Amino acid sequence: MHILAIESSCDETAVAVVENGITVLSNTIASSRDFFKASGGVIPEEAARKQIECMLPVLHQALKEAHCTPKEIDAIAVTRGPGLLGSLLVGTVTARGLAALWNKPLIGVHHTLGHLSSTWLDCSADDLPQFPILTLSASGGHTDLWYRSSHTQGRLLGSTRDDAAGEAFDKGASLLHLPYPGGPSIAKAAEQGNPDAFPFPLPLKKEPSFDFSFSGLKTALRYTIRDAKLLLRETPSQGVSTDVADLAASYQEAICNHLLDRIALALHKHPDIQEVHIVGGVSANIRLRTLLTQLDTGTTVRWPKSLRACTDNAAMIAAAAEFLVREKGNAAYRFFETAASLPLSAAIQ
Ligand code: KG4
Ligand code: ZN
Repeated sequence: MHILAIESSCDETAVAVVENGITVLSNTIASSRDFFKASGGVIPEEAARKQIECMLPVLHQALKEAHCTPKEIDAIAVTRGPGLLGSLLVGTVTARGLAALWNKPLIGVHHTLGHLSSTWLDCSADDLPQFPILTLSASGGHTDLWYRSSHTQGRLLGSTRDDAAGEAFDKGASLLHLPYPGGPSIAKAAEQGNPDAFPFPLPLKKEPSFDFSFSGLKTALRYTIRDAKLLLRETPSQGVSTDVADLAASYQEAICNHLLDRIALALHKHPDIQEVHIVGGVSANIRLRTLLTQLDTGTTVRWPKSLRACTDNAAMIAAAAEFLVREKGNAAYRFFETAASLPLSAAIQ
């Protein structure tokens, strides 16, 4: 199938055309992230307003890049939740309109199922992921560890009890006076730093659960800055000081170590796992990828093949829609409501 997908759950307006859930014909995105740099976070009302402006140009661009006409599209897919309601509505209203106008079936997709499908994008036919798969989905809104026996079946092993991993990066960056979004700016500052310079605890160390907790790391960072009496006033043109680089590197290491500690525990409990995947914005983190590779999991390890496929994008929604149709048949085309909060059970059963 050729699926045209729309994703607009946060501050991005994204449209993609994907063939058979794997071949990305276009993956177009307009982000208002730079616009929100000054405010240090997304303002929901503003984000939706920008998405209304961007939606049609992005749609045209995605069709053009894919060399596709509406006639060649077999179905429309759209993120139905969770996310910012106004933003989601811009996407779902557009998708419903296109489906009616072009007479195509419509598939509503859970945002997380999109992330879970992102490791299939751009895979070659002879190197497709094999289930059962352990997937860590870590972004600004969630941190979940899944045991998946198929695209739509599996178990949520654990979730974060407080902040999400991406949120920990964002809040940490704010404490270090580094720009939003925090993940890339902490990673960049950490390049010059020593990850062993400052000690951080390993969260939930004694608990044999698969849950995560990041709020303690954030507090530890705040106290480290206070106790060391560090004066953190940076401007990008001056570059970061040794203190900031060392703090960024140590804090990043602590977040990565916690994520990897849970992956290692899950692999120990589920020796049948064939592959380990990391997806979502945090999977763009190079240090996390390096440490995962060094973990010696005895399995195939994957993350999305492009940076764009790690963070929010529409190609992953198209892939998830394709797999929903394959595994659920006509149920994939069921009527859906747009929902700001949507239980994870709506993604995988
Ligand atoms: O998946 P995503 O684009 O949006 C959500 O669904 O939340 O993830 C965004 C999150 C942000 O918190 C951002 O700081 C984080 O992913 N992120 C990173 C990196 N790039 C983005 N975290 C760590 N390292 C990165 N290189
Ligand atoms: Zn996301």
